[in-house]
Amino acid sequence: MKIGIIGTGYVGLTTALTFAKLGFKVYGNDKDKEKIEKLKNGICPIYEPGLDELLKEMLETNQIEFLEDIVQTIKLSDVIFICVGTPTNPDGSPDLSQVEEVSRIIAENLNGYKLIVEKSTVPVQTAQWIKRTIKLYSHRDIEFDVASNPEFLREGSALKDAFNPDRIVIGVESERAKEILLKLYEKINAPKIIVDINTAEIIKHASNAFLAMKISFINMVADLCEKTGADIKKVAEGMGYDKRIGREFLNAGIGYGGSCFPKDVRAFYYIGSSYGLDFSLLLAVENINNSRIDRIIEKLKKALWNLNNKKIAIWGLSFKPNTDDIREAPSIKVVNRLLKENATISAYDPKAMNNFKKLFPNIMYGNDKYEVLKNANALLILTEWDEFKNVDFGKMRELMRTPIIVDGRNIFECEEVRKYNFEYYPMGRSCIV
Ligand code: UDX
Repeated sequence: MKIGIIGTGYVGLTTALTFAKLGFKVYGNDKDKEKIEKLKNGICPIYEPGLDELLKEMLETNQIEFLEDIVQTIKLSDVIFICVGTPTNPDGSPDLSQVEEVSRIIAENLNGYKLIVEKSTVPVQTAQWIKRTIKLYSHRDIEFDVASNPEFLREGSALKDAFNPDRIVIGVESERAKEILLKLYEKINAPKIIVDINTAEIIKHASNAFLAMKISFINMVADLCEKTGADIKKVAEGMGYDKRIGREFLNAGIGYGGSCFPKDVRAFYYIGSSYGLDFSLLLAVENINNSRIDRIIEKLKKALWNLNNKKIAIWGLSFKPNTDDIREAPSIKVVNRLLKENATISAYDPKAMNNFKKLFPNIMYGNDKYEVLKNANALLILTEWDEFKNVDFGKMRELMRTPIIVDGRNIFECEEVRKYNFEYYPMGRSCIV
């Protein structure tokens, strides 16, 4: 079985390399010719642990080939995964024009039975639209199936998640499509949930919206903890022991970012509302998330009186650790707010600085976490990279002008920082000397 992957972003590239490693011949295609050129030469366009090495290995063994031509990709493949982007329109609805375009090209180039699988996160009933589009444009009586096989991998642990998923969701409407997908995932040891296509599409959106809701819930409670002298970390621990709740995704802080949660919460609200349903729960999720930026700026102002001409050191720019991705990262909003208040910024991130420089070429960047602390009035922690967790507080104290840490990710313990006389402002906990 030959597999074509259309769209080689995080999901597409990881999926392509996973299937290649599982022993299938894979053709990867993207409309970005520069990206395909890089991939052909073994250069991974994104930072993701293990991806670079696997790309080189699969190119060497010829398990994967990257093609500029989408038509060739379609013709050579038995199964085609649609992994193109589904950005948000200004009104909050998902923009499915790339999915539609790919469906038309598939229709015009069907040269035998093919299974077309949507992997991108799409609104319920998108597969029905794909099916209709292929029928309308194919002008021939060639058999095909459409299926939904949503992806749940997380950036920063994409390969690990792809090889060890919590579950594999297979949305199909024919036995043939089911058998093909089960064959593709034969070697992956995970529960396989076989459902109809609409159900599969909803599982994906509902999962992401639910996780985002968990984060906003704990952030809402974090504010109450702060007002009342309680400790959100302990509250989360106490709640998390309840198996029905679980400890994961209860880390309070500056809120969720990235290419999925903000987009998917908005899209799911839009989808529910478009059927006349009350999905306003998700509006609250979004509002709470947006308010996290105000919270952290308030903390900083409270500590520094005002931000005018203050030097703020920032640790962490990516939306989460182990990625160079800054899409919808809270750091972007925070930096914009700081610049508005006339603060000076010096920032450090282990992987995301190059991407951040494209948006903010004029702020200062440091070569390491200590360099940015020189003469800083405060340190602002925005991403919980491991290298920020083990630090030399004595050295930090010496470098900084005033010993103030505002921690958007709750990475330190109060007792630890207190020893060095830092004023420490975490989220949802009080820790003043
Ligand atoms: C998410 C889903 O987890 C994944 O299943 C889906 O396929 C894509 O979207 P991702 O965006 O890569 O994955 O990262 P994730 O680990 O889910 O984190 C998302 C955001 O939530 C990050 O900004 C993270 O910092 C934040 N987060 C996560 C919290 O603020 N608190 C938490 O407890 C967990």
